[in-house]
Amino acid sequence: AFVVTENCIKCKFTDCVDVCPVDCFHEGPNFLVIDPDECIDCTLCEPECPANAIFAEDEVPENQQQFIQLNAELSKTWPSITEVKEGLPNADEWNGKEGKLNLLER
Ligand code: SF4
Ligand code: F3S
Repeated sequence: AFVVTENCIKCKFTDCVDVCPVDCFHEGPNFLVIDPDECIDCTLCEPECPANAIFAEDEVPENQQQFIQLNAELSKTWPSITEVKEGLPNADEWNGKEGKLNLLER
């Protein structure tokens, strides 16, 4: 499955949801996740993310490994999102900032 990683936090641009053929994105307050049981590895979402936050599971960077489990866990409780909406306020400023994991809201 594909995995949403740290740089989505506080950006949430949502361009990714527009292309997913199986609607497997789920939305939290300031982050999106992919349901690994639904993702069919079509690869379409990866280039759409302006924050480059989406990776194939076997290409998730070493320091982002905990996001594999986070996507699996949070996708079971967060609601589905299938339509693009505006990114979060100041998304452009947060794009690329490090250490956002502790800002993740559940
Ligand atoms: Fe959806 Fe394809 Fe991305 Fe998986 S790889 S989340 S199926 S767009
Ligand atoms: Fe997040 Fe990128 Fe989608 S910032 S909401 S993974 S387009």
